[in-house]
Amino acid sequence: MIVAANFKTNMTRKRTAAYLKELERRLAESGMEQQVMVFPPSTALDSFEGKVLVGAQNAYAAQNGAFTGEIGLDQLDEFGIDTILIGHSERRHVLGESQEEIAKKYAFYKEQGFNIVYCIGEPLEIREEGNDALMDYLDAQLVGIDLSYEKLVIAYEPVWAIGTGLTPSNVDIELLHTALRHKIERPLLYGGSVKVNNALEIMALANVDGVLVGGASLDVNGFFSMVEDAQKCDS
Ligand code: 13P
Repeated sequence: MIVAANFKTNMTRKRTAAYLKELERRLAESGMEQQVMVFPPSTALDSFEGKVLVGAQNAYAAQNGAFTGEIGLDQLDEFGIDTILIGHSERRHVLGESQEEIAKKYAFYKEQGFNIVYCIGEPLEIREEGNDALMDYLDAQLVGIDLSYEKLVIAYEPVWAIGTGLTPSNVDIELLHTALRHKIERPLLYGGSVKVNNALEIMALANVDGVLVGGASLDVNGFFSMVEDAQKCDS
C-alpha cells in the first residue's frame, strides 16, 4: 500500500520538519513497511533522511531558466528530491494547467527518472452524465502520459470529493478503480475526503493500492493511523 500526504498550501518549513521527524520516529518504532510519501509546499523541501519519500507538489519542466515563480530540476536536485505530484485538479482547475503542459511536465520528470504521482479526476457534472462521459473525461487526462512508466503511481481524485467531506460510495470507487486497472498496471491511489474513519474501508477495496490524503494528513497522528490501516490491509 502507498499512503501519501498532500499538504497543498499548508504547513511551514518548521512545521513540516517537525512533522516528518515525528512520522519517521513512529515508522521506525513500528517497523511497518508501507510506502509513505509526503508532499510539502516547495518552501519546506529539504534533504530529509528516512523512509518517507518526500516529493514536490509541482515543478516546471526545465532544469532552470527564466520561469518566474517556478522551481525546476536544479532546485529539486539540491535536496535530492526525486518524487513529484503532477496533474492535481487544483492545478488543472484553479491554476489553469492544460493537459499539454501537464504531459510536458510528465515527460520531463519521467526522463529524469522521478517517481511520479499522476492525478486524474472528474468534476461532478461529468459524473452526473454517466459512466461513458466519466471514462472519456479520465481518458482525456491520460493523453500524452506513458502509462507503462515503471515509476508511475496514479491517483484518482474526483474533484467534487476533494475537501468536501463527500466521497463516492465504496462500490463506485471499486468499480472505477477496476475499470482503470484494465488500462493501467501501476498502483492506483484513491484521493478525495479520505479521513481517519474511512481510510481502512477504502484501502480494503479491490484495485485500491493506497490513498492520497489532503486535509486529514495535516495532523501527524491521523496520518500515521492511516499508515497503520494500510498495514492491516496488507496483512
Ligand atoms: P482532501 O483529502 O482534503 O479532500 O484532499 C484530497 C487531495 O486533493 C489530495 O491530493
